[in-house]
Amino acid sequence: MTQNLVKAWTAAKQRLTDGGIDSPVIDARLLLEAAADASRIDIVTDPYRELTPEQTATLDGYVERRLRREPVSHILGRKGFWKVMLSVNNQVLTPRPDTEVIVDLVLKRTTEHQAFNLLDLGVGSGAIILSILAERPAAKGLGIDISSEALAVARENAANLDLNNQVALLRGDWTGGLADENFDIVVSNPPYIATDEIETLEPEVRDHEPRLALDGGADGLDPYRILAPEILRVLKPGGLFAVEIGHTQSKDVEALFTAAGGLDVWTIKDLSDRDRVVTGTKKPLET
Ligand SMILES: C[S@@+](CC[C@H](N)C(=O)[O-])C[C@H]1O[C@@H](n2cnc3c(N)ncnc32)[C@H](O)[C@@H]1O
Repeated sequence: MTQNLVKAWTAAKQRLTDGGIDSPVIDARLLLEAAADASRIDIVTDPYRELTPEQTATLDGYVERRLRREPVSHILGRKGFWKVMLSVNNQVLTPRPDTEVIVDLVLKRTTEHQAFNLLDLGVGSGAIILSILAERPAAKGLGIDISSEALAVARENAANLDLNNQVALLRGDWTGGLADENFDIVVSNPPYIATDEIETLEPEVRDHEPRLALDGGADGLDPYRILAPEILRVLKPGGLFAVEIGHTQSKDVEALFTAAGGLDVWTIKDLSDRDRVVTGTKKPLET
């Protein structure tokens, strides 16, 4: 049977709805766009355009994978974040809109041609550091991850965004081996889910995203216990830090950074009005 764009979209939406997928309308559209090489506008303005048999088969395959709860980002191999498109796979956390709070903060605290040194701990796909560097051409960045597979994805993204001359991506265990007081800004979105909670997460996350990107230890706070003093150590005096948190972790993470010597430590909310990013500064040198 020949399929056109609107029929294919409707059929895919129905299959995803019947399969209990949360966002069948958007997911069906994204899968159709990729399978039929069509834009969102094409679906609206040219709804009777016919799919080739190959495109129909590709869409079927995508819908099957989605019904097995594979995230759309993994099926398509890409995800939009802030103003960039990133390659992703099952070795990196799929970048979340919540994380854009950190990008927004750093861009608001810096000016377009400011030269600064940025460190991203747990760089994953490169979402945070690459989004910032793309808008701050005089800045330089270092992204660290313990996963070589994640670093391969970050390196592909840096090359695709033409940012190789601004960013270094290195394997490491958080700040191990980094000198004191070297960075103007340090950001991190560490794993912060309590180990026991991981089994209760949606299959898209539990079965398809790397444990290394999720597991924050018994209470989800283990990485912050390491990161708070270490971030304060590698920051220059007067430097800015920002770390993403789970929405119930604000008080605990603020306390860790305050105890480590952070100044003006506070929490920024995300667009859903949930606590999302703990930020502050390192004490400036006395004048
Ligand atoms: C929640 S993901 C964040 C990825 C990316 N920054 C983002 O916001 O989408 C956490 C990342 O921290 C990395 N990671 C976990 N433990 C680490 C460690 N000890 N040292 C460095 N990176 C680590 C993981 O491999 C993962 O890529």
